[in-house]
Amino acid sequence: MKKILTLAVAAALLPATAAFAQVPAEKKAGIESKDYQWNKMEGKKAEALHLKGDAKEGEESYEVCGGCHLPNGAGRPDGTFPQLAGQHSTVLLKQMADIVEGLRDNPTMYPFAKEALKNPQELANTTAYIQSLCVPTDHGKYEGADAAMQIAKGKDLYEKQCKECHGAHGEGNADKFYPVIAGQHYKYLLRQMTEIRDGHRRNANPDMVKVIKPYTNDQLVAISAYQSSLHMPGKMCAAKPAAKGGKKK
Ligand code: HEC
Ligand code: HEC
Repeated sequence: MKKILTLAVAAALLPATAAFAQVPAEKKAGIESKDYQWNKMEGKKAEALHLKGDAKEGEESYEVCGGCHLPNGAGRPDGTFPQLAGQHSTVLLKQMADIVEGLRDNPTMYPFAKEALKNPQELANTTAYIQSLCVPTDHGKYEGADAAMQIAKGKDLYEKQCKECHGAHGEGNADKFYPVIAGQHYKYLLRQMTEIRDGHRRNANPDMVKVIKPYTNDQLVAISAYQSSLHMPGKMCAAKPAAKGGKKK
């Protein structure tokens, strides 16, 4: 029931967002500038980072996000809206701040992120809530007939060059702003990595860019196939119906 309601809200929001999106963030040089410090969190954008978020309160403030990312945070397998559930709150905050600062292009979400950053305590609550959600297991995976081969090829690459930061199970690192990868949709992963490799995601981590720069498109497919097959023990669950918590509107 709630799901239907929230989806209706999303449908109503999207055209409004498109109107807002005509004034996106001003683009800022990131990775291409030599003064760029990818994890510099200071001033207003750092405020939420030092506040203790209340996940219970955050359920309410997450509602507007759920319009696109879905009430359970699962996003969409077609890769348009990323999976957010279980992501480290540090990573969520950094990404939102980067979007507002013009370091990561996201005109669709920009007005919402800008609004959210105005209230650091509420934002800390929202990200605490998202982090507390379990990571759904029925996300978009690589579906080609050669999946087993791609996953094996991707595993090999991942373990050599990515595991040290993103973890053996794709668990990332909250303190270092390394994102959780497990449970993320294959198509979203492939799109992000292509953008990171090609320099279009200006908030990227320079050490990661060095690693991924020489990758071919085929290698990105394989490594995305592998990443979307990762499983974090104890942190994942079959998707729950959206009625979770039973909070009324
Ligand atoms: C109108 C739709 C919309 C709304 C509302 C929205 N988002 Fe997003 N969000 C997106 C899209 C689209 C992307 C992916 C953009 C891209 O491909 O880079 C995204 C990406 C993100 C990311 C980056 C994820 C990653 O893995 O790097 C975070 C974090 C995020 N959203 C958090 C939120 C939060 C928190 C809210 C509520 C305050 C919110 N979003 C509201 C559309 C939306
Ligand atoms: C030095 C640590 C490091 C290494 C090595 C590294 N990454 Fe990353 N990765 C990061 C950080 C940090 C981010 C987030 C950057 C930002 O702040 O936007 C990221 C982002 C990503 C994202 C986007 C996630 C999202 O939710 O948007 C993907 C996918 C990814 N990395 C995959 C890989 C793969 C595959 C490799 C190996 C080829 C790799 N990374 C190597 C640190 C690393």
